[in-house]
Amino acid sequence: MTITSGEARTASDGRRWTLRPARPTDARALADLFAAVRREGRWLITPPAAVSEPSEAFFIGEMIRDASGVSLVAEADGEAVGNVMISVDRNLVTDHVGTLSICVADGWREVGIGSALVAAAKTWAGGRGLVKVALAVFPDNERAIAVYEHAGFVREGLRRRQYRIRAAGGEEYRDELLMAWFPDEADAGS
Ligand SMILES: CC(C)(COP(=O)(O)OP(=O)(O)OC[C@H]1O[C@@H](n2cnc3c(N)ncnc32)[C@H](O)[C@@H]1OP(=O)(O)O)[C@@H](O)C(=O)NCCC(=O)NCCS
Repeated sequence: MTITSGEARTASDGRRWTLRPARPTDARALADLFAAVRREGRWLITPPAAVSEPSEAFFIGEMIRDASGVSLVAEADGEAVGNVMISVDRNLVTDHVGTLSICVADGWREVGIGSALVAAAKTWAGGRGLVKVALAVFPDNERAIAVYEHAGFVREGLRRRQYRIRAAGGEEYRDELLMAWFPDEADAGS
């Protein structure tokens, strides 16, 4: 992974942003970003009430410090507008697997930032020698699935009724789509 400081990028709508490694001092801003995306109530599994931002900021700081994984930030106008993380399993028989999570702030979506973050995370994963990068996504998150498939992720399976979500009208169960990218099979995707 060669992104050591910041790389200037241009979004498809002409706005400028920078791709750079996350720093521990980003933890609070990233917790705020995740909280805002969680409040949208559609994309992320954990409901807002389940997470306290101070403890999430602490956890994110630990993840950023953890040299076994990677966390990259999309910065624009001095704000963190996107993040991708890969955390690597610690189990002796699964430490070849990384788990990818990503989010881009509302207002900065669909201008290429998510795809660029996934591409950079894949570059890191290949360099790190990971054999598999896995993720989970709600099956109706068509935009995220499009980004993942374009990047060469394949569908591994569907875990039906994996989550019980409390909604206004009561409870509902939601499925989870599992996807993965295998660097050594990596001709597919960009
Ligand atoms: C999912 C997410 C990370 C994608 O990042 P992004 O910056 O918006 O994505 P990009 O602009 O790089 O690419 C979006 C692609 O999806 C396509 N797309 C958008 N809506 C779509 C839809 N309903 N169906 C299919 N494709 C769609 C766009 O056309 C574009 O494809 P293209 O590059 O071939 O033109 C971002 O939208 C996000 O953070 N969403 C909310 C949180 C989230 O869903 N996180 C992932 C949880 S698993």
